[in-house]
Amino acid sequence: MTIAAARAFPNIALVKYWGKRDEDLILPVAGSLSLTLDAFATTTSVQVMPSAEADAFELNGSTATGEAARRVSTFLDHIRARAGSAARARVTSTNEAPTGAGLASSAAGFAALATAASAAYGLDLDRRELSRLARRGSGSAARSIVPEVAVWHAGHDDHSSFAEPVDAPDMQMVIVTVDTAQKTVSSREAMRRTAATSPYFPAWISSTEQSLAEMVDACAAGDFTRIGEIAESHALRMHGAIEACDPPIRYLAPRSVAVFDAVASLRAQGVEGYATADAGPNVAVLVRPEHAERLRDSLAELGEARLVGPGAGATLIDPSGG
Ligand code: DP6
Repeated sequence: MTIAAARAFPNIALVKYWGKRDEDLILPVAGSLSLTLDAFATTTSVQVMPSAEADAFELNGSTATGEAARRVSTFLDHIRARAGSAARARVTSTNEAPTGAGLASSAAGFAALATAASAAYGLDLDRRELSRLARRGSGSAARSIVPEVAVWHAGHDDHSSFAEPVDAPDMQMVIVTVDTAQKTVSSREAMRRTAATSPYFPAWISSTEQSLAEMVDACAAGDFTRIGEIAESHALRMHGAIEACDPPIRYLAPRSVAVFDAVASLRAQGVEGYATADAGPNVAVLVRPEHAERLRDSLAELGEARLVGPGAGATLIDPSGG
């Protein structure tokens, strides 16, 4: 096959990945666990172009250059090495996430690219191999290969660091967009700085290992309350470790904190939701399905609130778009 296309969705981690043990292989300091969403898809097609001199990358209708284009080419190099090919490729990608909402994620992007490009170069990879491959583009992409709830095992080398599905109770999320400005420090850079300068980083690693073990147990037990409690306190620990960097980085804005507070007061009224946030100000609230609409309506005054459910893993689609 010389042309292939794939679709993938972003994921929101309930136990976060924050820090690398190996920058080249993208091996994390600890495992993580996430929910793949059923919204904000990225669709990517890859055409192998044997006579082209360079890779070409088009994102949402515009030619991408600089760091974004370099990351795509470096990623394709892993696939070319494995496929024994020197051919360049044309990559065309679109994402459905609203601009700047922090959901046009590298996770969906590299999960779709790994799936489409490996097929275009004639590799037949199973889900575990695709997860390992997607990880090389962006760590969190390892989890967007997997549908619904995924655990990414930290592993100790390229082979052992991959994501796979875990059983979990029904859950939904309300994504509250409080700010659409681009973040000032990328998560890649902020992770490095946290590892190098945050005095809390060693505690972050050990507490993440413990949170993950508890989270896996809570998922297996179908204990939504415990899943939510772990997710919310763990997210605040990550932001604590980040805020303790030198120079400091703060992703949560006053409006983000207002969402955390509103979620806590809704809980006191019997609407069961738990807040989490990634490397930006927007907040994702894990919610019991039967409380989801009420929670969304209550949070709508604090930002654009969108209800999303568990989504599919990365999948090949018809490259003609038909
Ligand atoms: C806060 O996967 O974007 O969303 O591996 O450097 O590309 P790189 O980082 P990335 O980091 C995601 C960080 C996070 C937490 C998470 O998704 O687990």
